[in-house]
Amino acid sequence: MNPHFQPVALHHASRLINHGPTVLVTSAHGGRRNVMAAAWSMPVEFSPPRIAVVIDKHTFTSELVKASGGFALCLPTPALLDLTHDVGQHSGRDGDKFAQYGIDAHPGPVLGMPVMEAGCAAWLECRRIPEPHTEGAYDTWFAEVVAAAADTRVFANGHWLYDETNTTLQTIHHLGGGNFVRAHGAARARQP
Ligand SMILES: Cc1cc2nc3c(=O)[nH]c(=O)nc-3n(C[C@H](O)[C@H](O)[C@H](O)COP(=O)(O)O)c2cc1C
Repeated sequence: MNPHFQPVALHHASRLINHGPTVLVTSAHGGRRNVMAAAWSMPVEFSPPRIAVVIDKHTFTSELVKASGGFALCLPTPALLDLTHDVGQHSGRDGDKFAQYGIDAHPGPVLGMPVMEAGCAAWLECRRIPEPHTEGAYDTWFAEVVAAAADTRVFANGHWLYDETNTTLQTIHHLGGGNFVRAHGAARARQP
């Protein structure tokens, strides 16, 4: 056994795999809008493009998503690191976080969900695929991506272009406890 390896407490196990891009989940319904941070999202299907995201059932976001049938995932860059943490600390039930933090957003093209571009690398507008069991038992929501856009300085022709020139446009990844790391130091696997 590698002497550098030690057991990880199971309540920390999710942290070993939770540093995909941290997203801002935006939602809107009936004149209300909201934004929360989510570290836990993932693709589940190429075609049609489907994703899953964990949205706790106690959040205001979950209410709006259930009511509207949609949400957007916006990918913050380091410029929005503090904001990402802040909007993940309190509920939008108590007031509009967009107004509170001066967040610039416009309606997405298909569902009208608020999409953020300033300070973000990309966004995905998503239509909920109702799965009451997984939503209720695991707070896991499935959705189909119906529109997406990305900053071409960092994502073009279907690929992330991470290099030294665009570090400020790269995604951020939550390590837990308010600690983040930037996507940085891209490496390419050898080709067969
Ligand atoms: C960095 C970060 C990541 C988070 N990841 C998630 C997540 O994946 N799923 C979730 O349900 N809550 C997550 N949260 C907590 C929510 O963002 C938080 O409960 C938020 O206040 C909910 O807001 P709302 O009630 O306005 O929807 C995270 C918080 C932070 C700061």
